[in-house]
This record gives sequence, C-alpha cells and structure tokens, in this order.
Amino acid sequence: MIGIDPDRDRLEKIRKAEAPFFEPKLKECLADTIAEGVFSVADDSSVNMRSDLAYIAVGTPSSEDGSIDLTYVKNAAAAIGQSICDTTHYQLVVVKSTVVPGTARTLVKPVLEIESGKAAGKGFGLCSNPEFLREGNAVRDAELPDRIVIGGEDVDAITRLENFYKEFHGEPTPPVIRTTHESAELIKYANNAFLAMKVSFINTIANIAERTPNADVKAIAQGIGLDERIGSKFLNAGLGWGGSCFPKDLRALVRYSKSLHYDPELIEAIVATNEKQKRRAVELARQALGSLKGKRIAILGLAFKPETDDMREAVSIPLIRGLLTEGANVVAYDPAAMQNARAIFRDRITYASDPCGCLDQADCCIIATEWHEFKTITPRIFLERMRHPVVIDGRRIYNADEFSSEGIRFMGIGLGPKAS
Ligand code: UDX
Repeated sequence: MIGIDPDRDRLEKIRKAEAPFFEPKLKECLADTIAEGVFSVADDSSVNMRSDLAYIAVGTPSSEDGSIDLTYVKNAAAAIGQSICDTTHYQLVVVKSTVVPGTARTLVKPVLEIESGKAAGKGFGLCSNPEFLREGNAVRDAELPDRIVIGGEDVDAITRLENFYKEFHGEPTPPVIRTTHESAELIKYANNAFLAMKVSFINTIANIAERTPNADVKAIAQGIGLDERIGSKFLNAGLGWGGSCFPKDLRALVRYSKSLHYDPELIEAIVATNEKQKRRAVELARQALGSLKGKRIAILGLAFKPETDDMREAVSIPLIRGLLTEGANVVAYDPAAMQNARAIFRDRITYASDPCGCLDQADCCIIATEWHEFKTITPRIFLERMRHPVVIDGRRIYNADEFSSEGIRFMGIGLGPKAS
C-alpha cells in the first residue's frame, strides 16, 4: 500500500509511524503496517503506476456558496491518469471522496480518459465507493462497516472491487450494495442528512421539553428509540451537530438540489434548526447569570465530539464567540483539542490544563463535548471549585437530580422545569 500526499510534513510523520491527527487505534495500526513493510508514503503520484487499485480520497471542502470544491478530486484524477498512461495492466480507480452525484461520470471519468489515453471499462475501471466512517471510531468502522456501497457503470469493475472487499473482510462480508455512480454518490449525502435530521429532530423535541414541566428529553429519546422503526442511535440531544462532514455535506446537498431547481425544504430546516441550537447554551447562561459581562465561564469540551481533536465546525466555536461578544471571560479545557483551540482563539480565552482547574472560580460551567473524563466530575468538585455553582449540561452527561439536590443550579438541554 502506498499513500500519496503532497504535504511533506505529514509524510514525514507517517514514516515515523506518528499519526498526523488524534484518532483512537490509528497510531497502533500505523506502527504495525509500517513495521511490517506493507505501507509506505510518497509525494510523487507516478508511483501509482504499479498499483492495481487507486483510491481518490482527497478532501472536498465547501466553496463559499455551499457547493463543494472539486479541485482536489480533479487533480487526483489527472495525476492517476498520467501515472497509468504507459502501463499495460488494468487499474481500478475508486472514488472514496464525498462528491455530488455526477462527479464520477462527468468529471473523474473524462479526466482519467484524457490523461491516460485509455477508455474507461477497457484500460481501467472506475467505481464510486463512499465511506461512512466516523471520526473517533474510524479504525473500527473501516474494519467492520455496516455495508459497502459500490457504484459504477461497468459490471466487471464493480465485481473486482466487491471481490477485493470480500478478501479484505473475510467471512461474513458486510452487505454490498451494487448500484450506479449517481446513487452511490447520493447515498452518502442521504445518509449524513438523515443522521443530522435525527439529531436536529431530538434537539427540537428537547426545546419543547425544556418548556414542559417535568419533561426530560432523555426519557423521550429512550421511549421513541425503542421503536424499531426509529432506533435509539443519534437521539442524544445537545448543543447541536458539527464536524467536518455533516455541515459541509448538508450545505452541498442543498446546493446540488437547488441546481436541479428543487428546494429541499426539509434539509434546509435541519440546518436552520442546528444554527439556532448552537446559540442555546448562551441563552441558558444569560438566563442563569443575567448579564455575562465580566463573568468567568468554564467550557468543558472543545472538539466537535469526543475521541477526536477535530474542531472543524465544532459547536464550541460559536458558543465561545457568543460568550466573548457578551463580555464574558472564557476558560476552556479539552483532553485532545487544546492545540487546535489555541490556533482559533489565541489569547482571547484562557486555557486550563485539566478539567477541575478549568472550574476554578467560575460563575458557570458549560459542558460542550461529552468526553468520558468529564462524567466522573462529582457535584462536590463543582461546588468546591466554582465561585457560583451553575452547570449547563449541554450534552446531558450528569444526573440532574443528584446535582440539584447537592445545591447546584443545574440546567440541562431538554430538561423541563420541576413542578408538582
Ligand atoms: C459523520 C457520519 O456519522 C459518518 O458516517 C460520515 O462518514 C462522516 O460524518 P462524524 O462527523 O465523525 O461522522 O461524526 P458523528 O458521530 O456522526 O457526529 C456528528 C455530530 O453530531 C457531532 O457533532 C455529534 O456531537 C453530533 N451528535 C451525534 C449529536 O449531537 N447527537 C447524537 O445523538 C449523535
């Protein structure tokens, strides 16, 4: 296996078996494959000429209008095409990157054909094969995917890729969906839009529950999640969804849909609901403290979700910006994302070196990411460390009754007021 990337610093790290970002199990995987000599890296795409299988797995960032920027996909296809123009063996090219429908057929295929001088289906094969792995769980998701989606117009190419996965995964092979390029490309967007919809839905119910005496969204999520038609996953109410995929993919789906002259009102509502939800913690802090000017607010959790250092479109960013605009002093802690946070906020906030230290003299604490280590902080610790024990549980990790009975002003997303 050869990984090709133009970023030499990244390649240097990988050669030393250092993972270029935080991802559980990645370091061990990298160390094993490098020690076994089965994985190397290069910045020169001509090394691809010897491969049987080439994955396009480059980024597809958002453009200003919300559509995706396909420059890297196009460049990768051109580099692959050039690398195979003098070869005689068949190479299978696979698009892993998340791309809008039509990209494989109308962009990747012609670029490969022009640059290689070969015809798709004869000189090389082309498949669309979106990935569904989650950050923080990427290694497991790669090893044990729920399903494998393979799109294409060339039955032989699809069968070759299916056989490759059968060998890679062994028995039982995950279910394989064979379809067209366009359906495969759209499956990825539909998948992420559906998951984001579940979260925006439960956040909507959380907002209704917060205004309903004695209601608790956690009980509601449990109650509906046991209905097999709904399922219990992605029903954790919170401060909203973020990350490198949901926001970008939903924007791209809206743009793509509008380019077809169809207004995807439901998808737009999922995004709008999330934008509103991101402001919820600032509203709750204001409700608890009145003016936030000069108040010391502790933020526990900065990454867009636990088990990652990724802060791309993390909810903590608009939350902290909102608090700073209101004149609050922010002190923050995250087990993995401190370096990324410093690059964003520089000296506008204070950085704590551990979660308990973050609470010192705070007027309010907001849980923004549900890291496991925060779950073990007891009400006693909050009481001892904080100036005013106000806890806004933005991820619902604590027992509300336990915290309230200890004398903490406890506010939780989706938690209605107590009434008898
Ligand atoms: C997502 C998809 O799950 C994955 O299949 C795709 O390949 C890439 O995008 P990821 O971005 O790693 O993966 O994160 P995910 O676990 O899906 O969470 C996305 C966001 O939703 C996070 O901000 C998370 O905090 C939030 N979320 C998730 C909730 O607020 N509540 C939930 O119940 C689940």
